[in-house]
Amino acid sequence: MQPLEHLAKEHRLISKAVAVTKTFRDEIDAGGPIRPRRYWQLVDFWSTYADIVHHGKEEQWLFPIIVEHGVTSEFEATIDKLVEEHMYLLAYIAELRRFARPMFTGDRPARERVIMCLDNYIQLIQPHIKLEDEELFPAANDLLSKSELDELAKEFKAMDTRTGTKVQSFYSDLVTKLMEK
Ligand SMILES: [Fe+2]
Ligand SMILES: [Fe+2]
Repeated sequence: MQPLEHLAKEHRLISKAVAVTKTFRDEIDAGGPIRPRRYWQLVDFWSTYADIVHHGKEEQWLFPIIVEHGVTSEFEATIDKLVEEHMYLLAYIAELRRFARPMFTGDRPARERVIMCLDNYIQLIQPHIKLEDEELFPAANDLLSKSELDELAKEFKAMDTRTGTKVQSFYSDLVTKLMEK
């Protein structure tokens, strides 16, 4: 698979998980019982799939290869912004872990904090994906040579194998199941 298509495909799965997360956030906000298994499945998706599997490919391979190419300072600033956003997204996941226990034992401020965290995550990841899909990936596609794109494709495949040979199908199946319930 073409490497930028590989990343765009991951974005499509992430966007489906955003929709599931929005529904879950509304359930918590409505004050109903919180489904712990679903909560931890979403936390696992955001930390393993979005952060390690997806942001890992961007930070370890795509962004450096673009910067090595020698791009404008404006382009470099866009990449710095994207890396910074990955850090914020990861920090929100850490908060979701931190406030889980008090929330499940009925602590109201912890529940509010989790809702705020989910809102922040959703509000940040949507424009982040849009910027990468509409600006960064097409620009990278024009900029990178065929051999660089081939190298990226090879490394992306190797990263998926390192994370587990079934990492893509596992998280795709998980999101499908979460969308059904
Ligand atoms: Fe990203
Ligand atoms: Fe991305």
